[in-house]
Amino acid sequence: MHRPSPRPLVDLPIRRLNRGDLVTCADLCEDRGWPRDEHRWGLLLSAGTGYGIDAPDGRGLAATCLTMSYGPGLTAVGMLLVAGRYARQGIARRLMRHVMEAEEGAPLALYATEQGQPLYEDLGFSAVGRAERVGGRLAAGNCGGSPSVASSGSSVATRPAAADDLQAMVRLDLTAFGADRTHLLARLPAFSDRLQVAEEHGELVGYAALWPSGSTAVVGPLIARDTDVAQALITDLAATTDRPLRLDVEDRHKELLGRLAERGLESVSRTTVMIYGIPDLPGDALRRFAPLTLATG
Ligand SMILES: CC(C)(COP(=O)(O)OP(=O)(O)OC[C@H]1O[C@@H](n2cnc3c(N)ncnc32)[C@H](O)[C@@H]1OP(=O)(O)O)[C@@H](O)C(=O)NCCC(=O)NCCS
Repeated sequence: MHRPSPRPLVDLPIRRLNRGDLVTCADLCEDRGWPRDEHRWGLLLSAGTGYGIDAPDGRGLAATCLTMSYGPGLTAVGMLLVAGRYARQGIARRLMRHVMEAEEGAPLALYATEQGQPLYEDLGFSAVGRAERVGGRLAAGNCGGSPSVASSGSSVATRPAAADDLQAMVRLDLTAFGADRTHLLARLPAFSDRLQVAEEHGELVGYAALWPSGSTAVVGPLIARDTDVAQALITDLAATTDRPLRLDVEDRHKELLGRLAERGLESVSRTTVMIYGIPDLPGDALRRFAPLTLATG
């Protein structure tokens, strides 16, 4: 009997993902040794656009990718995953090309893993920085307690965010991130376990969220005027959880990385910040300490 020959993998249809795909997205993460993170997928699929390829063997998804648009000036790309059994057969390359076409020329930004970087380089992305993932339990430092006492000796007061802080957070975020993230920031109170702001003389000088990922608590986004404010926010968020912390800090923030290392956080992995279609990331990198997640830029 004649059986139709299987469709080549690079011809499989690409479809939009929705919240109904949460569990299969998490299964794919697990397949590649990433945390399942259904909670994070829920946020990403509601605020961003998910793309997927159904596995021809009927076992869930063969591949995913996610874009988070911040208007015409910037789109972040993340969650590019291909199931191990379909690796090295051109699926990621095809999915990325599709996503780049769908974005119609919007500048793109992403954090590349070591496995992903050669593909992005091939597609014309360039590296503009490195980020370090640090994790562990934060030991009490010379800045414990609240208000936190920064290494400079000055005190930085932080407190839980209130509903009417959102406008000031969006303003501060716009100068640091360089693109409007209102659609993400408005979701933070429901998404995070804790949202904390730092104030000085009644002015908002930083904010950070703490959210659950498996057995860890992730700090991000972390936007702060300077290292002291960033450290105060991390310290005060750490005091609200029993879980070990995790955050991705850009290499340029050596002082913060040094202080976190002194307090017991260890380097877990590194990624490369890459962009396409712009000479550099917008915003103020000195005030951008950690992303919400690597997938959101
Ligand atoms: C990275 C990943 C998405 C690649 O998927 P894939 O479908 O196997 O990739 P492709 O077959 O389309 O390969 C495209 C190119 O990427 C590079 N590449 C793919 N896998 C690689 C690996 N394990 N090591 C180094 N380079 C790799 C190669 O340059 C390859 O081109 P080539 O096969 O012509 O040499 C996949 O390995 C994966 O899901 N890894 C785990 C999650 C991850 O790190 N995602 C990237 C997030 S930034």
